[in-house]
Amino acid sequence: MSHAISIGCQRPYVIHLQADFSIPYATTPKVLISDRHVGPLYKEQVLSVLDDCYYIEIPAGESFKTREMKQKIEDELLLNHFGRDVHIYALGGGVILDLVGFLASTYCRGVKLTYLPTTLLAMVDVIVGGKTGVNTPQGKNMIGSFYTPSAVYANLNTLQSLSMKEYTAGIQEMIKHALLFDDSLLCYLNKHTKELLAKDISFLEHVIQKSILMKARVIEDDEFESGKRALLNFGHTVGHAIEKVSFYQVLHGHAIGIGMLIEAYMASGESALTKTILDFLKAYECPIDFALFNRTDDILDAMHWDKKNCDNSIQMVYLKNINAYQCHENQYTFPITKEQVLHAFTWVKDYLQC
Ligand SMILES: NC(=O)c1ccc[n+]([C@@H]2O[C@H](COP(=O)([O-])OP(=O)(O)OC[C@H]3O[C@@H](n4cnc5c(N)ncnc54)[C@H](O)[C@@H]3O)[C@@H](O)[C@H]2O)c1
Repeated sequence: MSHAISIGCQRPYVIHLQADFSIPYATTPKVLISDRHVGPLYKEQVLSVLDDCYYIEIPAGESFKTREMKQKIEDELLLNHFGRDVHIYALGGGVILDLVGFLASTYCRGVKLTYLPTTLLAMVDVIVGGKTGVNTPQGKNMIGSFYTPSAVYANLNTLQSLSMKEYTAGIQEMIKHALLFDDSLLCYLNKHTKELLAKDISFLEHVIQKSILMKARVIEDDEFESGKRALLNFGHTVGHAIEKVSFYQVLHGHAIGIGMLIEAYMASGESALTKTILDFLKAYECPIDFALFNRTDDILDAMHWDKKNCDNSIQMVYLKNINAYQCHENQYTFPITKEQVLHAFTWVKDYLQC
């Protein structure tokens, strides 16, 4: 299995979907960065291909996607005399890719970067479009940059070692792409739940490829989010707040799944769309922590830190139905009120608990 998908942005690059770690040999100084879960599983395979490569391993998890961790890695690179010619390889999920991508964008004012994604979420979302960043106590991804990699090599077999919880979180981002843009992908996800939950590689190959192509089309139109790219934030206004309030115990993808349901209710009421989202949340085993539904004040507070906010108002994508989003003069997000949010949380809680 091998597919090459070209991403046509300001600095075009190619995403290779493959079943191993074949990566072209580079003669420049090389650094591989991974985390303590992924490194022990795959670093030997990658290092044997890269040959003569410095290795850095950091703790795993969202709480290490910070400015402090970026600085720690930078210091290690500087102490080891890596300069502008260094080629950095990031091996891991979205946390490693976001953090290392941001680091590569500022180290010596920008160095060569290759992504080796190992989670489903990273393969269908993070590797497309060049957003990098770190979290701060105020919120998610508040500091970062747009910086595209030189290339991406996604070894789909690494998904076999990913926990089911992390895996189903990734599926939510594919559902998001399908709800926004592609009814046929939605039908496929609906029809092949069993095969996809079993991580059948031939079915996965199809949905990952489709999902990447869909996001790529949006990026190619609006790389720096001055318009249509904002649509990809569907579910994220509420989702990011849920992640933060749960101290990142609710995984990003699952938070987006619940966020999509709440935001869909705000845009369309109890509808065919909310019913579809509920069915997908159940089918793909998205956990729902009801304790969070009693913390709507904290969630609203967290929403005040959302990057999309403007003129002091909280903004969200209005998806009215499958593949039918609201758009007005190149504007794709619209204000919401506190009352709308509270009403939607009450509805979801009542609906799911009865
Ligand atoms: N840049 C973007 O466009 C973009 C888009 C979506 C999400 N994100 C970011 O991505 C992050 C979430 O990424 P994620 O869901 O990949 O989480 P993650 O990177 O934290 O990985 C999840 C967990 O699985 C482990 N893991 C990774 N691959 C594994 C494998 N193959 N086998 C076993 N264990 C493995 C990791 O060590 C970690 O513990 C969030 O910070 C989010 O903000 C960025």
